Amino acid sequence: MSLRGYTIIRELGKGSFGTTYLVKSTDNNNLLYALKHFTFPEHNPNNYATAKRLFQREVAILQTLNGNAQIPDFIDYWEEHQEYYLVQEFLSGDLLRKELKEDEKSEADVVEFLTEILAILQVIHDKKIIHRDINPNNIMRRSCERQLVLIDFGAGAIRKFVKNTTLTQLQTPPTIIYTPGYAPIEQIQGHPEFNSDIYAVGIIAIQMLTGIEPHDVQMDENGEIIWRSQLQVSEHLANILTTMVRYDYRSQYQCVDKVLEDLLTGYHTPTQILPSKTNLAPSPSSSTRNPIYVILFCLLAGLSTIAILSAAGILPVNQPCNQQQQGRMI
Ligand SMILES: Nc1ncnc2c1ncn2[C@@H]1O[C@H](COP(=O)(O)OP(=O)(O)OP(=O)(O)O)[C@@H](O)[C@H]1O
Ligand SMILES: [Mg+2]
Repeated sequence: MSLRGYTIIRELGKGSFGTTYLVKSTDNNNLLYALKHFTFPEHNPNNYATAKRLFQREVAILQTLNGNAQIPDFIDYWEEHQEYYLVQEFLSGDLLRKELKEDEKSEADVVEFLTEILAILQVIHDKKIIHRDINPNNIMRRSCERQLVLIDFGAGAIRKFVKNTTLTQLQTPPTIIYTPGYAPIEQIQGHPEFNSDIYAVGIIAIQMLTGIEPHDVQMDENGEIIWRSQLQVSEHLANILTTMVRYDYRSQYQCVDKVLEDLLTGYHTPTQILPSKTNLAPSPSSSTRNPIYVILFCLLAGLSTIAILSAAGILPVNQPCNQQQQGRMI
């Protein structure tokens, strides 16, 4: 391994084409970073080419998205002896996978999750990037601010729109990478789209509500996921989730804006919202006492304030969790 000015502290995770480490920079005040080392099983040139492609994509995408607090900051990359290295901001926090193991979530929790993760998707889709591997091991929650962060853009792709047609094509040759259970049929067949990411988020939301792992989910004869009858959830959220995870991509949501619009519109008026699976007492009729209404109101008010302050130059982007500039002191 060629670690340049970094020293490994411990392994953070291992995937098919590499290992991610927590490292400290010996050149830079022992600041902490996450270093992804892309490797490939020897004697197989195809794997080498794939590892290189994943590395190049992740570098390009992180560079494009740099400066967003809900995506790791890009720091550095290099290649040496046909091995590839990517250094990014170290996120102090836990994987969403850990939260899912803890307990089943209430409808309010799920709406909060959806609102936050869909806003991140909106940013990346606006840049024509499809993540293609959204799952609970690729979403982290910062411990300092409880913010969600989307990681692992190795499977990501940049969409190129061909002028004057509705035809679209991927800028790089397709690499069929996905996590079983979280990928819709069109992605499994090699045609990922923006709605493939929306599908994955819908599956996670259903997993949050039901506690059922995607590979244990039952399907009907049309390939539609059977989940609705198994729990108490408002008609409004159930309809949104059902549309997110439709078998036929033509019936799914095609863009994040529409999901968010439906989500927010529905909760502006009093609806039959069920606070949690275990606490099914009737909710007060006043919309102001509805927990989801309050969460959404606060979230929108917070986002507007941040946007106004940022625009006025009062609040630097990334400030709270990134005060020590691109790293964290030990
Ligand atoms: N920036 C980061 N800060 C803290 N931990 C991270 C960071 N990036 C990754 N990790 C941890 O390392 C694990 C593996 O990283 P990542 O998801 O990027 O790659 P992978 O799944 O091993 O690779 P791939 O899916 O591309 O084969 C993550 O699940 C997470 O636990
Ligand atoms: Mg991963």
